[in-house]
Amino acid sequence: TAPVGAPTSPVLCPGVGAQKSFQLHQPQRKLWVTAGDTLTLTCTVSGYGPIGPVKWLKGWGRENETIYDQTGTFPRVMRAATGSDTDFTIHIRDVRPEDAGTYYCVKFNKSVHDVSVFQRGKGTEVSVYAKPSSPLVSGPQSRAGPGQSVPFTCTSGGFFPKEIAVKWLKDGAQISAQQPQVTPGQTKSSYDASSTVSVTLQEGDVRSQLQCEVHHRTLPAPLRGSFQLSRALRVPPSVQVVSEPPSPVELNRTVNFTCHVKGFYPRDVAIAWLENGTELSVGSLPPPSETPRGLFELRSLVEVQATEERNGSVFTCRVVHDAQSPISGTSILRIAAPAKGGLSDRSQTDNGA
Ligand SMILES: *[C@@H]1O[C@H](CO)[C@@H](O)[C@H](O)[C@H]1NC(C)=O
Ligand SMILES: *[C@@H]1O[C@H](CO)[C@@H](O)[C@H](O)[C@H]1NC(C)=O
Ligand SMILES: *[C@@H]1O[C@H](CO)[C@@H](O)[C@H](O)[C@H]1NC(C)=O
Ligand SMILES: *[C@@H]1O[C@H](CO)[C@@H](O)[C@H](O)[C@H]1NC(C)=O
Repeated sequence: TAPVGAPTSPVLCPGVGAQKSFQLHQPQRKLWVTAGDTLTLTCTVSGYGPIGPVKWLKGWGRENETIYDQTGTFPRVMRAATGSDTDFTIHIRDVRPEDAGTYYCVKFNKSVHDVSVFQRGKGTEVSVYAKPSSPLVSGPQSRAGPGQSVPFTCTSGGFFPKEIAVKWLKDGAQISAQQPQVTPGQTKSSYDASSTVSVTLQEGDVRSQLQCEVHHRTLPAPLRGSFQLSRALRVPPSVQVVSEPPSPVELNRTVNFTCHVKGFYPRDVAIAWLENGTELSVGSLPPPSETPRGLFELRSLVEVQATEERNGSVFTCRVVHDAQSPISGTSILRIAAPAKGGLSDRSQTDNGA
């Protein structure tokens, strides 16, 4: 701790040999502080030194920054012993990750011509613990069907130190994932993490939740982010056309064709009816109903007259689900051959007998 400058200034009162030489004492070598808390940097001086201020600098050389000076305003900095000329301990409140660095307590020597460094402390290396941000889970750009493997990403940032663990859970059960990728964050002394997991979607995932759990030494309990798998899932419907009564049917009877559209997700669906490829106009569609499993179903009905010309007509129910290519179901209308004697209606046959 030999003085840097030449202590030849007259203020040292040469000739008074009993006076203790100037000593600057900065005892803390390493400090850890949590972002948001108050940091206390200790520095005391003793003995007689030259005229000149005591300041706190962060960094040394070109990169230095004045943290505290007796003149000037430093909004987050407070002296521990206001006005003291031996205790230069300071408090820095609301610590931020960017406050990490090495702090020096410095005694300057002020002469007529300039101000030079007289003595500096050994430096206090400050590391700032910073909590990771609330994790965000993102899914694929577009929906995928059952059986497809889909990536999900969890991101959390702004934490320090670098060590972090990310766990994935599907409906509360842990699923395996690779180690998170940790990259330098937006500010110095903070990191960002990203973890990706592949999930093979299933029909039942409409009600499933994916969770990402972030564990970091600054957290009393892990932070969680979640994602409803229904947002990533598309379950295409099954389409079936049923004729009532079933073919073959008697001439001139009314026949109902019902299109059963079952087990789809999401609920967005459009239905068109075609007779031999020509669209039929049908009324408005009833809203889909939700099944206990969380999927949707819908029925659409057309009534047709079983006229002779319709014998062999193909009735198609064309379903467009969630803007995908259509899924169709068909039924062919068959008209029973008329009974012998040219009459197809039994009651008429009876009456005629
Ligand atoms: C602090 O930085 C300034 C400007 O770069 C420089 O002039 C000064 O010498 C530096 N002081 C110390 C103690 O490194
Ligand atoms: C079926 O309907 C047509 C037209 O309405 C009618 O001409 C014909 O006699 C009917 N046939 C029978 C068997 O009822
Ligand atoms: C056809 O549907 C209508 C309307 O839902 C119903 O009243 C009628 O009984 C049905 N006919 C047959 C043969 O199922
Ligand atoms: C309808 O077509 C079937 C098969 O082509 C035929 O057997 C039947 O007699 C036809 N029915 C009528 C009413 O023409």
